[in-house]
Amino acid sequence: MSRKVLFIHSSVDGHTSKICDHMSKKFDQKFNTETMPLEKAQYKDIESNEIIIIGASIRYGNHRPLLYTFINQNEKILNQRSAYFFTVNAVARRAEKRTIENNPYVKKFLKKVNWSPKKIGIFPGKIDYPKYKFFDKHMIRLIMYFSGGPTDLNNSYEFTDWQEIDAFAEEIKKNNG
Ligand SMILES: Cc1cc2nc3c(=O)[nH]c(=O)nc-3n(C[C@H](O)[C@H](O)[C@H](O)COP(=O)(O)O)c2cc1C
Repeated sequence: MSRKVLFIHSSVDGHTSKICDHMSKKFDQKFNTETMPLEKAQYKDIESNEIIIIGASIRYGNHRPLLYTFINQNEKILNQRSAYFFTVNAVARRAEKRTIENNPYVKKFLKKVNWSPKKIGIFPGKIDYPKYKFFDKHMIRLIMYFSGGPTDLNNSYEFTDWQEIDAFAEEIKKNNG
């Protein structure tokens, strides 16, 4: 019988959801995958799946409050499942920020939840200047300027290393094979 995998994404501009879609394609016919936005996810969805993968992006220093509400309400069942977490942010474009000890958002996340994910992924996201509204565009540009990132407002920049995403999915498959 195929094993049920549920991806839950907290994604504002769609990049984290794209990462979930990419990962889900790595699961072959031995698995039965489903993807849903965090807004739709309920206790029964976790309860009825064996493997849970929650991915969430960062905006202005934080994961969305709904992420914490959802995890805190479901911490018991998450700890009983084979459950994984990954965060998507621009800071992680620098390799040294891709560890649990050095990524500020993961450190903050772990302080706020009583859930121990089986593995945590830290993935660089995408900066899509043309898509952003005036305020966000200029705020992100300022942050990029001070952190040595790209500042051309006419361009978008995808920092995601898709091989790292593949490796994360492969490890989950291996652990649940
Ligand atoms: C308004 C806004 C604020 C952001 N704030 C941060 C931030 O504080 N730190 C960071 O590392 N990345 C930040 N990012 C980068 C996002 O985490 C990155 O674009 C990610 O790919 C977004 O994923 P999503 O499309 O799934 O929401 C920000 C992006 C936007 C548009």
